[in-house]
Amino acid sequence: MSKTDVKRYSDPETLAAVAADFIVAAARKSILERERFTLVLTGGSTPEQTYRMLARPERASEVAWSRMFVFAGDERFVPETDSRSNFGMARRALLDHVPVPAENLFPIPTSCATPAEGARLYGELLGRFFNQAPDSTPVPGFDLLLLGLGDDGHVASLFPGKPALDLTDQWVTWSPPGTLPPPVDRVTLTMPVINAARSVLFLVSGEKKGAVVQRVLEGPPDYKRVPATGVRPNSGSLHWFIDEPAASKLRPGERPA
Ligand code: 6PG
Repeated sequence: MSKTDVKRYSDPETLAAVAADFIVAAARKSILERERFTLVLTGGSTPEQTYRMLARPERASEVAWSRMFVFAGDERFVPETDSRSNFGMARRALLDHVPVPAENLFPIPTSCATPAEGARLYGELLGRFFNQAPDSTPVPGFDLLLLGLGDDGHVASLFPGKPALDLTDQWVTWSPPGTLPPPVDRVTLTMPVINAARSVLFLVSGEKKGAVVQRVLEGPPDYKRVPATGVRPNSGSLHWFIDEPAASKLRPGERPA
């Protein structure tokens, strides 16, 4: 795995602005090299500001939006119209405001009977997109995969102690709720897919994340109890964008960017 790049920003607004710049730069590089950009969005509340920054009209000419393909890292098993839907939030904050073709948007199915069915269907969708059998190896590598960090150290919907953590031969699975709200079943990419990404970017903001940020960045690996410590891209780059409140418990380092 290449080096972990940790950047600290004075406040959430600065973090969101730089994160939007990072995504634009990754998109331009991927499209230049491979004529497409596969982006996995994270859910939760932190990324919303970044998505809004990315949707600003002045960025319209910065990206060949028609070459962008957007996926979900995880999803609450609720209708997309539900306020808890991660893809619903992404549409409101970003996707409804940029010219990514509808056929390039790949939400996780949540209108099927069960989250297990949703996971199966999403795995099949990814198989068609990457033109390989679902769950086959080598695991397909997304160009950029965004992650948030749960207070309990979860990433996507890979919660401490849950069976989803142990899946090494599936691209997509489902999970019952973790200890943090919302208490709904989830569908999630698995850790092998996360670690197959060309680039992984954590977006972490707020005082309440201080302890878990310190645990993940300065403590020992402990994947079962702190799933975020299992994010170690096979050959991709790992980036952490953290605001000062979330970095408050880290060893004194260079000043925020
Ligand atoms: C979700 C997310 C989850 C999130 C973290 C951090 O479905 O909730 O995918 O992994 O990224 O829980 O959430 P916040 O940004 O709201 O703190």
